[in-house]
Amino acid sequence: MSLYTDRIAVAADALRARGVAGADVAIVLGSGLGAFAESLADAIRVPYAAIPHWPAAKVVGHAGLLVLGTVAGRRVLALSGRAHFYEGHPLTDVTFAMRVVGALDVPRVILTNAAGGINTRFATGALMLIDDHINLMGSNPLVGPGDPALGARFPDMTEVYSRRLRALATEVGASSGIPLEHGIYVAVHGPSYETPAEIRAFRVLGADAVGMSTAPEAIVARQMGLEVLGVSCITNPAAGVVDAPLNHDEVMAVAARVRGQFIQLLEGIIGRL
Ligand code: HPA
Repeated sequence: MSLYTDRIAVAADALRARGVAGADVAIVLGSGLGAFAESLADAIRVPYAAIPHWPAAKVVGHAGLLVLGTVAGRRVLALSGRAHFYEGHPLTDVTFAMRVVGALDVPRVILTNAAGGINTRFATGALMLIDDHINLMGSNPLVGPGDPALGARFPDMTEVYSRRLRALATEVGASSGIPLEHGIYVAVHGPSYETPAEIRAFRVLGADAVGMSTAPEAIVARQMGLEVLGVSCITNPAAGVVDAPLNHDEVMAVAARVRGQFIQLLEGIIGRL
């Protein structure tokens, strides 16, 4: 036991005391996707501020709310708002929520985010299943003394994003007429957007989309043995892909525009888990 594992246990106990238990899947909602949490039936809502040791999520467009509710006959633990590395949180805080999800014995997680499109075939507003990631954040959430209670010291990362869940999501996309791209997500520290030269470099490295989240949570989830699915909403062409500056308002506006389709996809996936 460490101070960190103590804090995880305290947060998980506080949530259990409020009836948060028995979720079939957790889902981390990226920028603009908070509406999904609103749509859950028979919901228990817990503001992040009411959960001991839970870091606050400050970015505009993130609610800071945990909701346990029912979608398509499944109990879903929705996390509306996440702590980001670019806010100055250490990666152990960025992934605290994921640790608590693990402590609550949730067997799988869907990570969603907004991302810039590096692949020039991607339309703005497209949804991309994350096949794999490249962590260029400059650190790793497992840096530290290492605690066997958290998982292996050197966890395997050969299949971070579950083949089974990706196949299931592909089927749901096809059967519900939601076009789905596939690709590699490169995670960067932020908060400045990338330069065009960085985007060209990432393309050479094999990346299709770029964002400032998800990889740390995915690493931690895998260390704990959860099944992981990742979906990016391509909210903008990455820097230099088209001759236009980037801004967060545009990212939020596009995320809001495709929200209906994104939620439909998530519901379809959850219904077939
Ligand atoms: N870069 C990094 N993060 C992002 C972007 C981007 O272009 N769009 C949305 N999140």
